[in-house]
Amino acid sequence: MAVERTLSIIKPDAVAKNVIGQILARFEGAGLRVVAARMMQLSEAQAQAFYAVHKARPFFGDLVRFMISGPVMIQVLEGEGAIARNRELMGATDPKKADKGTIRADFADSIDANAVHGSDGEDTARNEISFFFSSLDVNGR
Ligand code: CMP
Repeated sequence: MAVERTLSIIKPDAVAKNVIGQILARFEGAGLRVVAARMMQLSEAQAQAFYAVHKARPFFGDLVRFMISGPVMIQVLEGEGAIARNRELMGATDPKKADKGTIRADFADSIDANAVHGSDGEDTARNEISFFFSSLDVNGR
């Protein structure tokens, strides 16, 4: 399996619950490495631009409001099959449907406050990583 990089965001609900470390430990425990990281409070314009693909969806306004409600922790994860592995670790978007033992089943409260975001494919991963990080920020091995 190819070594990939994917973008992961620990959302405001999980940051407020003080579980950044527990979530990062799950990534590391599954063989993913944090190769870039930054903590920041997104502006409304940044959140709208990051989620532009969802602009026409009825939940867009709530999604943006939620994502700017507090600081987020953003990281690039690297490892074999990192994109799919991260999605397995996160569980389904709606925590009510997420498998037992996944991050969203264990830490999320609702489909909006769902603890984490992860890129859903190779193109998305490339675009989402470059949205937040320059190549100089990403420390490969
Ligand atoms: P995320 O993986 O960050 O991508 C878009 C987010 O929109 C998603 O997680 C959810 O938090 C949020 N969202 C709210 N309602 C829906 C919905 N019906 N379908 C998909 N995503 C939704």
